[in-house]
Amino acid sequence: MSSYIEQLFSVEGKVAIVTGAAAGMGEAIAIGLGKAGAKVAVADRDEEGGAATAKAINDAGGTATFYAIDLVDTDRIQEVVKEVAEEYGQIDTLVNAAGVTFPLKDTDSLEDRLANYDLTMSIDLRAAYALTISCREHMKKAGGGSVINLTSINSIVGFPGNPGYVAAKGGMRMMSKGLAMDLTGDNIRVNNIAPGYIKTAMTAGSQADPEMYNSRLRHMIVQRWGEPEDMVGATIYLASSASSYVTGQDIFVDGGWTAKGLT
Ligand SMILES: NC(=O)c1ccc[n+]([C@@H]2O[C@H](COP(=O)([O-])OP(=O)(O)OC[C@H]3O[C@@H](n4cnc5c(N)ncnc54)[C@H](O)[C@@H]3O)[C@@H](O)[C@H]2O)c1
Repeated sequence: MSSYIEQLFSVEGKVAIVTGAAAGMGEAIAIGLGKAGAKVAVADRDEEGGAATAKAINDAGGTATFYAIDLVDTDRIQEVVKEVAEEYGQIDTLVNAAGVTFPLKDTDSLEDRLANYDLTMSIDLRAAYALTISCREHMKKAGGGSVINLTSINSIVGFPGNPGYVAAKGGMRMMSKGLAMDLTGDNIRVNNIAPGYIKTAMTAGSQADPEMYNSRLRHMIVQRWGEPEDMVGATIYLASSASSYVTGQDIFVDGGWTAKGLT
């Protein structure tokens, strides 16, 4: 029985690039994939955190390499994909977990608003697109692949104070559906994992403020905030052949946030 499950959900030997893998959900996903036997390219601009994630995987008997990358740099994106393919001989899985959010001060300055919007779009949306296209040939050569994009509950519901972030996540949600159609001919599947409120640096402000912490908690059916490790199961499912007929979909790992009606 267990070997059947192990085979169905196996990521053993797969080569996975995980962006944002120095911290938070990207880190947990990279370590989870590494523990499950994948070879992990840990990609992040945070050199100390990224090296620590790769070390944690290697120390646990897995295989990982850190690649320093700033995702606003398209040349570096192409370079890293090439370096990973050279080092590991193939690319099977891409997890776009890096993300930024810059809550806006209330401002009518178009210049400030557009600077915020452009940077968010560049890191949260454009880089995932560039990486996917850069990985395509390598995934095709490997017989297929899986692209997993970390969106958000904000991909389907609005939040105040940061329309660029909401637009980036909504855009990513739909980009995955478009790419699922474009890439299926190469046996590449593209899906989204949409986290709810997860305990990472990104949500440090609302974790620290008891009123905000509890107001978010009230939206959840599962009565706790998410942990970064809560994303690992959905990632392994989407990276493995257990999901071979699943593409263009959203998996909401949100403690039921988007399902909750009246309390
Ligand atoms: N934390 C949440 O509650 C939450 C909820 C929904 C969606 N998300 C999304 O999930 C993903 C992971 O979020 P998290 O909370 O783990 O974030 P985090 O802030 O803990 O970690 C983000 C990582 O991305 C890296 N990164 C940021 N900009 C980069 C760049 N330009 N180049 C390379 N690396 C860069 C950071 O160095 C960091 O390691 C993000 O896309 C985020 O938008 C988060």
